[in-house]
Amino acid sequence: MELLSDCPAHTSVPDKYVLPPEKRPSVLDDGPSSHVVPPVIDLHGAAVSDGRRRHLIAAEIIKASKEFGIFQVVNHGVSEDVVQGFREAAAGFFAMPAAEKLPYRSDDLSKHFRVSSSTPYDRNGDRYWLDYLKITCHPVTDEHVREWPDKPGSFRGALAEYSAAVHELAQTLLRLIAEGLGLDDGFFAGDLSSGNTQMNVNYYPPCPDPSLTLGLLPHCDRHLITVLSQGDVAGLQARHGGRWLLVRPVPGAFVVNLGHQMEIITNGLLASVEHRAVTKADAARLSVVTLVMPKMECRIGPAPEMVNESTGPARFREFEFSEFIKAYSAAAASREDVLDYFR
Ligand code: SIN
Ligand code: FE2
Repeated sequence: MELLSDCPAHTSVPDKYVLPPEKRPSVLDDGPSSHVVPPVIDLHGAAVSDGRRRHLIAAEIIKASKEFGIFQVVNHGVSEDVVQGFREAAAGFFAMPAAEKLPYRSDDLSKHFRVSSSTPYDRNGDRYWLDYLKITCHPVTDEHVREWPDKPGSFRGALAEYSAAVHELAQTLLRLIAEGLGLDDGFFAGDLSSGNTQMNVNYYPPCPDPSLTLGLLPHCDRHLITVLSQGDVAGLQARHGGRWLLVRPVPGAFVVNLGHQMEIITNGLLASVEHRAVTKADAARLSVVTLVMPKMECRIGPAPEMVNESTGPARFREFEFSEFIKAYSAAAASREDVLDYFR
């Protein structure tokens, strides 16, 4: 299928992208609520071990995770140059002529770099208003890098830098979550978070009528946690209390959301959050999404420390992560369907 980024600007939404009325955002959306927003957490001081400040940050993260399953972080230690460097390289990739992108067009899931369009979470034949890159971005091995594009010229270097910096941030966040849960701070280090890190770069071109389309349908992430740069164009919404909340762009912030594995390991204390992307008429939007995952052979289940009076008996069975990925890909990406399978 043609990439949206290869088409001349659309003046109307082509029929194949018009969602059935019940799936359109205007029907699902009962309006952005201005007073309830996922919290913005200042990570300044998080690196200080045993400090009171660090303790407070961990508590804030747990509170946000319980209440929303999604939050933003500022003063996170990833330099703005590194973020902008990769965002520009990724935007530059989508802006290249079709012929330059053609060698990377693929729907083969085993590739370490590919570009495709429209249906990453499609289960019903509906098309979504986006092009996307799927990249294995960590660890940076020769095998992975060989598949990364060498155009634009800055792409490989910028990706390696961004990926290393976000990996470190993700590990800091996982240490804080572990601490906030009263677990050993290295609880999530190792196999639970050292699978090949996947990156999705989503590119949503301007859409002539955002009320007819979605950039990404509502879904929960299947991994442990997601660290996302959304730039300054709004579009990400999270489900909260029966409403869709806009995750407002905050300059320089990363959005962090919890995935299914975090929900399972914490025995439901922290919940994975349903989210979606809406499109915009007057601006293109680019999100860089880093998905931290367990090793495929890692055993997952509620941590014994998390099965206690407040969470009740174990709500999920133990399984191998590869089994979860298979079930997720086979099932409708609806949150309950997949989690039910592991109860
Ligand atoms: C995602 O859920 O993968 C991305 C959402 C976004 O583009 O902000
Ligand atoms: Fe997602």
